[in-house]
Amino acid sequence: MKNFTYYNPVKVVFGTNAMNQLAALLPANEKVMITMGMGSIRKNGVYDKVKSALSGRDIIEFEGIEPNPEYEKCIDAVRIAKQENVTFFLAVGGGSVLDATKFIAAATKFEGGDPWDILEKGALVKSAAPLGCVLTLPATGSEVNGNAVISRREKGQKLAFGTPIVMPQFSVLDPATTLSLDARQTANGIVDAFVHVMEQYLTYDVNTPLQDRQAEAILSTLVELAPQVNKTPQDVEIRANIMWCASNALNTLIGCGTVGDWSTHIIGHEITALHGIDHARTLAMVLPAIMQHQRDQKRDKIVQYARRVWAIDGTNDDEIIDTCIARTKQFFEETGCPTSLSAYNLTPADCKSISNTLASRGMIIGERNDIGEAQVDAIISLCA
Ligand code: NZQ
Ligand code: ZN
Repeated sequence: MKNFTYYNPVKVVFGTNAMNQLAALLPANEKVMITMGMGSIRKNGVYDKVKSALSGRDIIEFEGIEPNPEYEKCIDAVRIAKQENVTFFLAVGGGSVLDATKFIAAATKFEGGDPWDILEKGALVKSAAPLGCVLTLPATGSEVNGNAVISRREKGQKLAFGTPIVMPQFSVLDPATTLSLDARQTANGIVDAFVHVMEQYLTYDVNTPLQDRQAEAILSTLVELAPQVNKTPQDVEIRANIMWCASNALNTLIGCGTVGDWSTHIIGHEITALHGIDHARTLAMVLPAIMQHQRDQKRDKIVQYARRVWAIDGTNDDEIIDTCIARTKQFFEETGCPTSLSAYNLTPADCKSISNTLASRGMIIGERNDIGEAQVDAIISLCA
C-alpha cells in the first residue's frame, strides 16, 4: 500500500428531512449567497424548503448555473458576491452547481491575478470563502470532496481543480430531493459513480485488499440498484442507497493508498467540451474502450473485477476479460447510457482533436503514464 493522508472534514447530514437541520448547520451572522441551477429546485420544492429554513437570514440568490458550469457565469457570481460582501455560499442542486460554487468561493479570495489560472495553470488556491451544500443529484461525489470542474466554451475547455480548502463545511443529503430526477439524470448518476470507483480500482495491485473490497462493494451495490430504480423510480429507499453509493464512490476513502487512473475522465471531459454530451455518458463510452485497450496492463484487476463483481467463472483470462467488458457495456446500456459515439451520430473522426489537445497540455495519462497521443486516438477509435 502507498502512503497517504486521509482528510475529510465534510459533515454529512443524510436522510429524510435532513433539510430541517439546515438552519442549525449554517453559521449565524453570515451573508449567504444561495447558488442554484436552471430551475429544477423550484419545480421539486427544494427551493421553498431552503428559503423557509433560512428565513430571517441575510441572503442573496444567484440562479442560472448551467450543467457543465461555465466560467463566465461563475465570474458573474464572483463580482456580485464581492459587491454584496458575501461571507458564505450555499450550493443547492447537482454537481454542476456545487462545482461552480467551489470555484466561486475560491475565486472571490484569489489574489493571484486571473482566476482562470486556477484551472488552466494550477495556480495555488490559498483561501476560499466557506461553503455548504444541499445536494439534489447523486453522481459526482462533489458533496464530499474538494474537486470542481469548470468549462469555458469560448475556448472549448473543460478543466478541473482540487483542494481541501473548497470542501463543503456540510452537505445535506435528503434522498427525497432526488425523486424528481428523470431517467436520464438518474442513469447518469449511477454510471458516473460507477466509473469513479473504477478509476480508483481498475489499475494494478499494490496490496490494498480492504480498498479493493470497498470498491467492489460499491460497484456490486450499484449493479443491484440500477434495475431497481429503473423499475420503481419513486422508491425513496432505493434513491437513498444510490445517493450514499455516489458519495462513497468519490469521498476519496477507497482511493487511499491505491494507484488511480482517471484517463476515462480526462478523455470524457474533452468529449463533453467538444460535443456537449453529458459527463456520465462520455464515461460510458470511454471506460469500456480503455478496458479493451489497456487489457494487458490492467489484466489482473480486470479478472478480479470480473470474478468478484460479475461472478464470471473460467480459466482463460482473455475470455474472462472479453465477457467482463461486454457485461460492463451491457450494464451501462441497460442503465440508460449508450456506449458508442454512433448513438450521438458521431464518429471517432469527430473527436480527432482530443489527442492533440491533451498532448499540447503535456498530458500522458493512465496509471502507468502510458497513454499518449497515439493511444488516445486508438481508445477513441474503440468508442465508435
Ligand atoms: O440546473 P438544474 O435546473 O438544477 O437541473 C439539473 C441539470 O439539468 C438537473 N437536476 C439536478 N437535480 C435535480 C435535477 N432535475 C430534477 N430533479 C433534481 N433533484 O440535472 C441536470 C444535471 O445536473 P448537473 O449538476 O450538471 O449533474 P451532475 O451532478 O451529474 O454534475 C455534472 C458536473 O459535475 C462534474 C461534471 O464534469 C459535470 O460538469 N464532475 C464533478 C466532479 C467532482 N466535483 O468531484 C467529479 C465528476 O467526475 C464530474 O467530472
Ligand atoms: Zn465523473
